Amino acid sequence: MTQQSPLHARLAPRIVEEDGSFRSKMLAIAADLPKVIALGRGDPDFHTPQHIADAAKAAIDANQHHYTGPTGLPALRTAIAANLKADYALDYTADEIIVTAGVQESIMLCMLGLVAEGDEVLITSPRFTTYDTAVHLCGGVPIPVPTYQKDDFALDVAEIEKRITPRTRMFVLVSPNNPTGAVTPPDVIRKIADLAIKHDILIIADEIYAKLIYPPHEHLSLASLPGMKERTITLNGFSKTYAMTGWRVGYLAAPADFVEKLTEPRHTLSINTCTVSQHAALAALTGPQDDMDMMYKAYAERREWLMGALKDAGLSFGAPGGAFYIYTNISSTGLSAPEFCEGLLRETGVMVFPGTMFGDDSTDYIRISYLQPLPLIREAMGLIAGFIAKHKASA
Ligand SMILES: Cc1ncc(COP(=O)(O)O)c(C=O)c1O
Repeated sequence: MTQQSPLHARLAPRIVEEDGSFRSKMLAIAADLPKVIALGRGDPDFHTPQHIADAAKAAIDANQHHYTGPTGLPALRTAIAANLKADYALDYTADEIIVTAGVQESIMLCMLGLVAEGDEVLITSPRFTTYDTAVHLCGGVPIPVPTYQKDDFALDVAEIEKRITPRTRMFVLVSPNNPTGAVTPPDVIRKIADLAIKHDILIIADEIYAKLIYPPHEHLSLASLPGMKERTITLNGFSKTYAMTGWRVGYLAAPADFVEKLTEPRHTLSINTCTVSQHAALAALTGPQDDMDMMYKAYAERREWLMGALKDAGLSFGAPGGAFYIYTNISSTGLSAPEFCEGLLRETGVMVFPGTMFGDDSTDYIRISYLQPLPLIREAMGLIAGFIAKHKASA
């Protein structure tokens, strides 16, 4: 047995084992394949629109190479506040915004600011498991709130309420959700607001996919409801809407007194979000939105096509109202989701991820992200159908 290093032996208890081995295994398999159709990750196939990249180049040429204040460029914070008002009826001022390295850093900052040892944090599930890790790192306990295919993975307020204990600190509402694409409807959002007030719990509203919602589904920002801004942190960012994953810009919006208290911790994490990227984000918000419309239309078309093709292949799913994922039930194949994903990748080069990577206890689901051009998605679907037929025949 290899000996543990003294560093490993002295890991702090906050470092909880999180199993990333399946993802690594899939990436290792993919690395040896001649062609892979990647429908696994949540990274748009579109490139960042040109005018946004140009704004970053202009910022470099204008010597914007220095630190900004820890909460971000004033012009960007002002533009974010204006955008939150115009698009989501949210009333934040520039001093209620902290610009972070993606929503990812905002998540960590929220937990650092609010979670004490033993606090319970309820999370819409299946889920983006960064929330688990961030809660663990702060000594808290993540408590999944399950959603089910029979409801198209929509949240049920009763499922939240029955998990509330004296240790419950907050509820993380992710709508649209990753990996299910489920949009929490406005009437349920209103019930969640009532519940939060009744039990005096805080809310993190992760709205990173809020611009990617397909009719008739509707978005309602929780913090726009009476009495909710005071107890909510709204998270949003640029990665998904503007195809800007690599630029690392997101933000949190919360009442000014709380934001002020988070400013020093935010400075400690990384001082500020990359200055050049902040200039790019400013151009994203204030420049033309045509590229975003084009991307949205492409996602909508792919979603329609893929839902039809999955049905034709005999697979069921929770109809997604938003984001760019379809959470698909593969139990009819007789394979567990990890077996399905590994087999599919090895035999066809199509990469999708099992629901188990999103904290799902069930092994019945895979997440397909439609982040490839439609011809490639069609090709992948043909390969998936062939894979299923072959495995059913040999079962
Ligand atoms: C629900 C959710 N929140 C936050 C993030 C983090 O996004 P970023 O840090 O790129 O803004 C993701 C990324 O997939 C996500 O799915």
